[in-house]
Amino acid sequence: MTARIIQKLRVVGVEDSTPEVRVYTLEHPRKPLLPAWAAGAHVDVRVADAKVRQYSLCGEPGVQKRWQIAVKREAAGRGGSAWMHETLALGGEAMVSAPRNNFPLAPATRHVLVAGGIGVTPLLAMARTLAAEGADFTLHFCARSAALAPLLAELRAVCGPRLVTWFADEGRRFDAALIGPPAPGTHLYACGPQRLTDAVRAAAEAAGWAEPQQHYEVFQPTLDENFKPEPFELKLASTGEVLLVPADRSALEVLRERGFALPSSCELGVCGSCVCGYSEGVVIHRDSVLPVAARQDRMTLCVSRARVAVTVAL
Ligand code: FES
Repeated sequence: MTARIIQKLRVVGVEDSTPEVRVYTLEHPRKPLLPAWAAGAHVDVRVADAKVRQYSLCGEPGVQKRWQIAVKREAAGRGGSAWMHETLALGGEAMVSAPRNNFPLAPATRHVLVAGGIGVTPLLAMARTLAAEGADFTLHFCARSAALAPLLAELRAVCGPRLVTWFADEGRRFDAALIGPPAPGTHLYACGPQRLTDAVRAAAEAAGWAEPQQHYEVFQPTLDENFKPEPFELKLASTGEVLLVPADRSALEVLRERGFALPSSCELGVCGSCVCGYSEGVVIHRDSVLPVAARQDRMTLCVSRARVAVTVAL
């Protein structure tokens, strides 16, 4: 795995936002400024066994002195969040990548944000930006209860009456149909569990939202366990050479073996690090990061495959 880890950052703050969610504040031990970022960006953090996990930056966009991430300990997760909670302490060091943004704010006259649980992290950063700009927005925040709603105090302070909470223990459950038909110039953003983003997407499509007006981010792979990978061919646009990708290998692995130094991070189709252009072929897109429009000419090499030989821009 070629992660985009670029720097060792120091943990200068650790705070429990809820019993499950810990907020880490990170600074460079020597440099006064970290790379700039915009709302919606995430970073990769190296966890145990050289694996990486993606976490949205949830602090103040534009503040380069320190970054903040919020990590929910996932009991049924892949172990990265548990490692973070158990290992990363005040004064410790974390290996962190430069920010990448697959979920930026679009120019719009109004923004509707829908967050589920820990999925609120990029939307908090968006709310900070929108509030600072005096923009028109509403943030719907779904959680089991106020006590388990991460970053709630910050959200209330940033959003004021523009925050609408949907806490299940209060009998308030978000109905995606509330989104209603799109008003001109309005954009919709959702981040959270896949059942929430799927419900928002279905409701938005049923209500006539155009695809470019909808923006989703999920950090869980959406791979279909029943998918049976087949071998396929990759053609290199630069030389015309054809490479066979066996059923048990990824395009990324085969291309690296051929000598291409290609970046990757999650290798689960969620981060976008390995996205590559393509021009011909029928791609089976298996990622959860590329918007529909981008799938016409871009693919994730880590998980996506092809039905008909695909020509990659390499
Ligand atoms: S490495 Fe993350 S999408 Fe491929």
